[in-house]
Amino acid sequence: MTSALSIPTDWVRVRAPGKVNLSLRAGPPGPDGYHPVVTVYQAVSLYEDIVATLDDGITVSVTLAGGQADTVPTDESNLAVRAARLLADHAGITDGAHLHIDKRVPVAGGMAGGSADAAGTLVALDELWGTGASRDDLLELAALLGADVPFALVGHTAVGTGRGDVLTPAMAVGEFHWVFAIAAEGLSTPEVFDTLDTLRAGDDVGPPDPEPDIDLMHALRTGDPHGLGAAVHNDLQGAAVHLRPALERTIATAHDAGALGVVVSGSGPTVAALGRNRAHAQVIAASLTLAGVAERVVTATAPVPGAQLIC
Ligand code: C5P
Repeated sequence: MTSALSIPTDWVRVRAPGKVNLSLRAGPPGPDGYHPVVTVYQAVSLYEDIVATLDDGITVSVTLAGGQADTVPTDESNLAVRAARLLADHAGITDGAHLHIDKRVPVAGGMAGGSADAAGTLVALDELWGTGASRDDLLELAALLGADVPFALVGHTAVGTGRGDVLTPAMAVGEFHWVFAIAAEGLSTPEVFDTLDTLRAGDDVGPPDPEPDIDLMHALRTGDPHGLGAAVHNDLQGAAVHLRPALERTIATAHDAGALGVVVSGSGPTVAALGRNRAHAQVIAASLTLAGVAERVVTATAPVPGAQLIC
């Protein structure tokens, strides 16, 4: 890290948020296999903590909230390792780094934890290696790594189009209080998109309306959790529930606990429930925990910034 006095150090720490899709509408897949989407992302205060240290080669180690760190690959397929290699190639860097990732965002949970790792790695290594990459450079590299990676850099609330990687900031007032019911086992994003196509077979489905939901955007602009709860929507929800029928009970439990809105996050299986305020979110969390419908239940506030250097 380069401090205000420009004293270089050999390690940096970055925090990168997970996300919830407040709305996600998807059309039929294009020739590249990707589905055109119009989605409204919100970054939530559930973070990946990444410490990057100068080292030989590029290596990664992982600790995970709730255990099971061995479910995350630490080889070349790890998205943070791929982000490090991409940045090194782009900037002509021959230095290496060790990345330690302390994960809080569920693995394969539809909350873009891997994308947060990649975005956080770009920010960390840009600083550690002094690559001098611009913000736009980092956003371009992020889009090469995955559809959700640019949003993990930008954070706050934004509309995503294209694959979800073309971002427009959205105005949101105030703080929203979320509860996340995290499943023991993740879902594969490609499998959920494939299931959506199968369930839609024979339907006349066009590309998604390029304008994000009017009611939802109004609720964000006015900081109205009731309006937001009523407007949350996810085209992938039916596919996620089809693959994981137990989610129906999780969703029903959150509704019974008085959540203002309940939606599967991204490709799932995490279920997001919106509370009226912090105390109400805790009541919903307690109901979900008592009902035994999730492996882990956490509360989080939103929106929060994208990947940020902490020290
Ligand atoms: O971009 P990312 O690697 O996160 O996407 C994982 C997979 O999810 C893609 O290979 C594709 O099968 C599916 N996907 C999609 N349409 C999107 C985003 C992802 O079909 N807009």
